[in-house]
Amino acid sequence: MSATPEAGVDLRGSNTLRLPCIAEWCADVQDAADIPRLLAFARERGLRVRVLGGGSNVLLPESLPGLLLRMRNTGIELLEDSASRRVLRAAAGEPWHPFVLHCHAQGWHGLENLALIPGTVGAAPIQNIGAYGVELDRFVLEVRGIDLQSGSPRVLGAAECAFSYRDSIFKGALAGGFLVTEVLFVLPRPVVPCTGYAALAAELAQCPEPGPAEVLAAVMAIRRRRLPDPALLPNAGSFFKNPVVTAEVFGQLLRAEPGIVHWLQADGRVKLAAAWLVERCGWKGHRERGVGVHDAQALVLVNHGGGTVAALTDLAARIRQSVRERFGVLLELEPVPF
Ligand code: EPU
Repeated sequence: MSATPEAGVDLRGSNTLRLPCIAEWCADVQDAADIPRLLAFARERGLRVRVLGGGSNVLLPESLPGLLLRMRNTGIELLEDSASRRVLRAAAGEPWHPFVLHCHAQGWHGLENLALIPGTVGAAPIQNIGAYGVELDRFVLEVRGIDLQSGSPRVLGAAECAFSYRDSIFKGALAGGFLVTEVLFVLPRPVVPCTGYAALAAELAQCPEPGPAEVLAAVMAIRRRRLPDPALLPNAGSFFKNPVVTAEVFGQLLRAEPGIVHWLQADGRVKLAAAWLVERCGWKGHRERGVGVHDAQALVLVNHGGGTVAALTDLAARIRQSVRERFGVLLELEPVPF
């Protein structure tokens, strides 16, 4: 598809849940220079503009009105290579995992814990992707893009992005109003491998001094074991965020459930493993109406074939209800409903 919008585009292949969805209008952005023309196209017709990266963290409706821009711009550049840090620029449309592999192969280390996360570079700061003890925000220098209201370019420094656990200003005040065109990353030197996450530490137990290559291999091995490959079993990664509760609530939960999986937070609160709560409510491996709960990771909802957004959101609602009834904890959705 070119940068000229096409009408009635089937998005089943553009979302990793493979949910059926028809976009009223859709264009692929290969070059950020085409964006002003595409925004003018939408303005002339009164169309709302939405932006899609790899489609790996979205819940698409069956019919999507407006103009959808699929980010496909590419390019990775090393801007600074000093003793204390490397600075890289990557285009929003670069697929995330190949970007991590490319950086690793060039010796630009630091992103290895974030290997195999689906999606694109441009989507990564939106939900502040994270895995195995590392969240993206520690590497973000700037997010560059276009304000969809004014059509003007805008640069946000890391502090302005308001990053927190799976959240940022792009899901808050700027939700639906900002198009990411490129991200600047800073990789501090020397690289200190981050191996404290329990599952990663266990995977590296036989490796006395793991370096970036060992961390990369270990993260990829764990993910391949635990998380379904969306190309084989459509999914959007974790469907719920890990909830954070007060120390007081946690104390009560611990008395009732001594085995509850949790992580103490710096502010005294406690993050709970949503997967454990969901599994404890008996949902792991559950199937209905073409959708289900993955049998190796209870936080991942999957489309076994023929699933719809309605079947998926209905299943998610009943999972949330049962977790709330049993534990008094409210689970928040992780994928973004469009
Ligand atoms: N667990 C269960 N049942 C399960 C799976 C896990 O009880 O079916 C328990 C285990 O005790 C395990 C703990 O939950 O030790 C944590 O599981 P895991 O390490 O798989 O991590 P998670 O908390 O379920 C989060 C992220 C993942 C990320 C992993 C690894 C969220 C919402 N999810 O999952 O991110 O890959 O940590 O760091 O924070 C995503 O965001 O889409 C995603 C996959």
